[in-house]
Amino acid sequence: MSLATVAAHGFRINGAGHLELAGIDALVLARDFGTPLHVLDEGRLRANCGEYRDALAQAYGRNARAIFASKACCTVATCQIAHQEGMGIDVASGGELHTALRAGVPAKDLYFHGNNKTPDEIEYALRTGVGRFVVDNDHEFDLLETLTARLDTTADILLRLTPGIEPHTHQAIRTGGVDSKFGFGMLDGAAYRAVVRSSRMPRVRLRGLHAHIGSQVFDLEPFRTSAGALVDFAARIRDELDVTVDELNLGGGLGIRYVTTDEPPSITGYVRALADVVTAKVREHRLSPPRLSVEPGRSIVGSAGVTLYTVGAIKSIPGVRTYVAVDGGMFENPRPALYGAHYEAVAAARAADAATDVMAVAGRCCESGDVLIWEVRLPPVRSGDLLAVFGTGAYTYSMASNYNRFPRPAVVLAGDGRARCVVERETYDDLLRKDVAL
Ligand code: LLP
Repeated sequence: MSLATVAAHGFRINGAGHLELAGIDALVLARDFGTPLHVLDEGRLRANCGEYRDALAQAYGRNARAIFASKACCTVATCQIAHQEGMGIDVASGGELHTALRAGVPAKDLYFHGNNKTPDEIEYALRTGVGRFVVDNDHEFDLLETLTARLDTTADILLRLTPGIEPHTHQAIRTGGVDSKFGFGMLDGAAYRAVVRSSRMPRVRLRGLHAHIGSQVFDLEPFRTSAGALVDFAARIRDELDVTVDELNLGGGLGIRYVTTDEPPSITGYVRALADVVTAKVREHRLSPPRLSVEPGRSIVGSAGVTLYTVGAIKSIPGVRTYVAVDGGMFENPRPALYGAHYEAVAAARAADAATDVMAVAGRCCESGDVLIWEVRLPPVRSGDLLAVFGTGAYTYSMASNYNRFPRPAVVLAGDGRARCVVERETYDDLLRKDVAL
C-alpha cells in the first residue's frame, strides 16, 4: 500500500493525491528541477541534527558534541546546515576538508579522518588549523612528525582504535573488527604502543580516543561494548602511562529505515545508551568525565532524502518480471549494486492508489546488475510517471559517479514550501571539462 509506505517514511500526500516533500508537490519539484533529482528535506535534516544535540545534552550534559560525518552527503550546504545546528564536521579527505572550509566551518571544528592521508592533505590540514587529526596508523605519525616540524606547528590528535567488535551489517561497512584496514588494534597491543609513541612526540598532543565499528547498525549492544572498551582503555593508560583522555569519540553507525519493516533505534535511544555506558564506566574507574562525541552521517541525512525519477522504457517478461526503467541508476545511487541495499518507492502522482503490480525499478547503466529495486509494489506504471525512492539522503550523491558519462543529478533543499538548488545538475560540458583532446 503506497499510503502506508509514504507514512512509514514520514512524508505526506497532498489533496491532489500527490506525494508532498517539505510542503512541495513532488511533481512541481520534478517540473522545476528535472529528474533524476535528489531532494533533501531541510526540516528533517535540521531535526535530526537537533535530536543528536538535545539527546547528548540531556544524557551527558554540556561536555558532548555530535560531529557530522560529511562523507554521507558532502556538499557546502549540508556542511553549513550541520554546523549551524552546532555540529562539528568529520572530513575524510582533502576534498571533504576543502568543502567544509568553503562552507565557512571554522577549521577548529573539523575532525580529519582517513587511513591513508597524503602528505599534501596533512599539510593542508595543518596550515588551516584543523581541530583534530584522527590518527590511524604509524605512517601517519611519521608524516605528522615531519610536517609539524617543517611547518613549526603542533597537531591535536585522537587515536583511531579498532576494538575487535563485529556488528551485524554488510561486510563492506564493518570497520571495528580485528581484520580491518582501519586503526590501531586494541587486542594486539598496537593501540597501547600508539599511546606511548604519541606521548613522546613533542609536537603532537593526544587529546582522546576514537572508534567506529560499522554503519547501518540497529543493535545497540556492539556500540555499548565498544564504548565500554574505550573507557577501560582510557583508565589503563592513565594508570600505566599517566596519560589523560579528554575526549571520547564513539564514531557513527546508527542505522536508518530504508524499508517499512526496518525498526532502527531512535537517535535519542542510541545516544542515551552510549552516554549511560560511558558515565557508568567513568565512575567505576574514577576518571574525570571526558568530552563525549558521536559522529553520525547516515542518521543525519539519510531519511531526509528522496530521489525523484521519470519512468521511461517498460519491459514485461511474462511470468518472469517487469522492468520499469528510470532515468537514474547506479551512477547516482550505487548502493543496491554495491551492497544489495533495499529501497522503497511510490508513484508520486498516485501516491494514494492501491499498489497492485509487482515490478523491478531498473537503472539506465549498461549493466544487468543496475537495478535500484528488485521488487516493489506500485499502482500500474506508465512511461512518463514520476517515481519517488525514499531514504536516499546518505551515500548516494556522495558516492555518485559519471559511469557511462551520465551527468550527476542536482541536489535541492526543500523546506517550508520552498526549494532551492544546492548542487547544480552536471552538464555534458562539465563531463568534458578535464578531457584533453589529442
Ligand atoms: N565515522 C567514521 C570514522 C566513519 O568511517 C563513518 C562511516 C562514520 C563516522 C559515519 O557512519 P554512519 O553514521 O553514516 O553510519 N557507503 C556505505 C557506508 C560507509 C560508511 C563509512 N564510514 C553505505 O552506503 O552504506
